[in-house]
Amino acid sequence: MQFFLDTALLAEVEEAAALGVLDGVTTNPSLMAKAGVQDFDAHYRAIAALTAGPVSAEVVSTSYTDMIAEARHLARLAPNIVVKIPFTPEGVKALRTLQGEGIRTNCTLIFSPLQALIAAKAGATYVSPFIGRLDDIGHEGMNVIRQIRQIFDRYGFETKVLAASIRHPLHVLQAALEGADIATMPFSVMRQLFNHPLTDKGLAQFLADYEKLHASS
Ligand code: E4P
Repeated sequence: MQFFLDTALLAEVEEAAALGVLDGVTTNPSLMAKAGVQDFDAHYRAIAALTAGPVSAEVVSTSYTDMIAEARHLARLAPNIVVKIPFTPEGVKALRTLQGEGIRTNCTLIFSPLQALIAAKAGATYVSPFIGRLDDIGHEGMNVIRQIRQIFDRYGFETKVLAASIRHPLHVLQAALEGADIATMPFSVMRQLFNHPLTDKGLAQFLADYEKLHASS
């Protein structure tokens, strides 16, 4: 399973890359705004330079024609840019055209297995079901991952399942068990994956025993 970072903060991308577990990055216009980004193009280039993995850059146009123009522009910024397209009828049309041009896409704002099926039929490289936002409204987000996996395997779609809107380590575990290809997560969640109190306690004990042995010899 691949780990992507869901962020627009360069420092977080650098730190995750240094940990050696970073396979890619996803951004969205809200994350870019939160990071205070003004020059989007320069910022996408900067993120793309920090990882060899795919970097999702989202269009902000809503019509087919404008989305295609924006997607072509974004795809030219760096070889590892993947264009994020919202799941709308116009977006679905754009997915098919972009696939024909060899531009990789991440279809975002997926909340049902049928939306994912349509995006896959239209040639999306990735689909991003938003787990946390479904949980927020009382649905079981992980069911969507399970059903998408089942449908894609049943019909042999190569579209990757990218579990998004991840809020805590349990989401990552469940997405892995359900066969998601990728989990994109905030940096805080990625760091949490490393933590276990018994690891800390065990290491402290090993080091204390080592010190005791050497102090007494
Ligand atoms: C995915 O690519 C989105 O950027 C993201 O996971 C949305 O997560 P949120 O629901 O925490 O905003």
